[in-house]
Amino acid sequence: MCGIFGYVGNQDAVNVTLTGLKKLEYRGYDSAGIAGFNGVSGEVKYCKVVGKISRLEEELNKLDLHLNTAIAQTRWATHGKPNEVNAHPHFDTSGSLALVHNGIIENHDALRKMLVAKGCIFKSETDTEVVAQLIGSLYEGDFLAAVQHALPLLHGAYALVMIHKDYPQQIFAVASAAPLVVGIGEQEAFLSSDVMALKAVVKEVLHLANNEVAVVRADQVETFDASMAKIVKTRETVSSDAEEISKGDFEHYTIKEIFEQPKTLNAAIASRYNEDYGTATLDGLHMDVTELLNVQRILILACGTSWHAGFIGAYMLEDLARIPVQVEISSEYRYKNPIVLPGTYVIAMSQSGETADTIAAVEELKAKGAKILALCNVHGSTLTRLADGCLYLRAGPEIGVCSTKAFTSQVVVLFLFTLLMARMRHMGKAEGQALLQALKPLPDQVQQVLEEANRIQQLAKDYSHYDNFFFLGRRHMYPAALEGALKLKEISYINANGYPAGEMKHGPIALINEQCPTVALCANKAVYTKMLSNLMEVKARNGRILAVASSDVDGLKDIADDIIWVPETIDELAPIPTSVALQLFAYFVARERGCDIDQPRNLAKSVTVE
Ligand code: AGP
Repeated sequence: MCGIFGYVGNQDAVNVTLTGLKKLEYRGYDSAGIAGFNGVSGEVKYCKVVGKISRLEEELNKLDLHLNTAIAQTRWATHGKPNEVNAHPHFDTSGSLALVHNGIIENHDALRKMLVAKGCIFKSETDTEVVAQLIGSLYEGDFLAAVQHALPLLHGAYALVMIHKDYPQQIFAVASAAPLVVGIGEQEAFLSSDVMALKAVVKEVLHLANNEVAVVRADQVETFDASMAKIVKTRETVSSDAEEISKGDFEHYTIKEIFEQPKTLNAAIASRYNEDYGTATLDGLHMDVTELLNVQRILILACGTSWHAGFIGAYMLEDLARIPVQVEISSEYRYKNPIVLPGTYVIAMSQSGETADTIAAVEELKAKGAKILALCNVHGSTLTRLADGCLYLRAGPEIGVCSTKAFTSQVVVLFLFTLLMARMRHMGKAEGQALLQALKPLPDQVQQVLEEANRIQQLAKDYSHYDNFFFLGRRHMYPAALEGALKLKEISYINANGYPAGEMKHGPIALINEQCPTVALCANKAVYTKMLSNLMEVKARNGRILAVASSDVDGLKDIADDIIWVPETIDELAPIPTSVALQLFAYFVARERGCDIDQPRNLAKSVTVE
């Protein structure tokens, strides 16, 4: 979950690398560092700090390094506390080799013991320094040979970017189950953990795959396989949508992305349905009609917010398309011995397309012969290159660590996929057209919720002092309750728990009291009266209730202490207006509590380690 960046060329490598690193800061921000050459002597110069990139920038301004080759990293700590010693880059004992790393070396302890016995002197607690010391200990004048001998000894997922004093204008890169992109410019080259940090500076990139090695010079990029045999990598063109990577007039990326949702939902829907036939038209499935008709069961794999979206999709697919669905958390599923029956279609959901657990689970399922559909927001990400088909969310770069616009686009894309599968089976045209009539006003309905932001902010202020919350929902609103709770947890550090409302009486209701309010997701019509009964149970125990509802049938006003009204829609889509209201609620509570909303403590945007 770290961000690594490299540059070699004629520009000021410190400035170029800092600019690139800032675009990767969402991947981790507990410490940062840079190393490089000034192009004359082979001496490796470096600077590293604990804290954010802005701290690194302050220190660099005092040093005036003047580098033309540089590598850098912004860290999310896996092994070793966030401090200056553990910050990247790390070095071999001689200080000749500098290395930055994203990922985990699982056998770092055994390697460290072996290297200490060989006389290596370690400074940090990190697994990364083990790699630097290992390659340094194997170096006998040929750096590629040292890398070639080191790779088989490394177990885990890693992207490495390295420099060595004997090669002052070259950068060496290795990727194994972690993303690493090489950007090719005019007499300059870049390396990055993801393509987004390169969009404004290059037009061509290549992605390093498992155990591939690159030697990057300003005027040449050579690529090799693990045996150091030369290979030719396909170069991809990147679109420069740099204008999207800015907060604009908003205080945080998170609130900007919440307010983008009418636009992003329109983008997710655009040109993906046919009103005359009442069905969806989805490019990118790479499955013909016969294959789609032969789908007997669906397995949805994801983590975090993406899992919540998949969970809502499961209700839709079973209700409307009558296809059995299994929804699995990737980090659990990857260690099962999955039973993949004929006719199994896998939907792997990941905003970043780089989540290690989901990628690992997908690789296992591919090995068992399953067809994989990716729902993803990042073109060219690892998951999209692994899957057989891909439905892009079209939500634009999501920088805020807590996922908002990607979630609502995931739900809409799953709704469209459900419509397609249902209409290919038993659903009639009129029913399909009715579903589309419900879908079309959705972006405007979300806009109506956003117009309630000031009132939601007032409510958030009133609830921001509580340290514990329940979020309750039923059916499609149960995963929406999990998602609402996760938003509040992530950005305000409040203990918020999502639960199926009917489950409260089986134990959790013991926690209800005046200091533990309940957020009740009431906009699912099919189970509305059941929700009211559950809320009466909460009220009877003096629990404060904040309801999110689309109608006041049966006297909700007499039960809830506060109500956020959202536009009425069908049960399948109701989680979207409700979730936008809860995104705003979580944002304003976090803001009231003075939290670091775009970069919450302990988190990172892309979980590329397990
Ligand atoms: C969402 O707010 C969280 N930041 C996190 O749960 C995220 O959804 C999860 O890590 C999955 O990420 P992905 O969609 O990129 O795979």
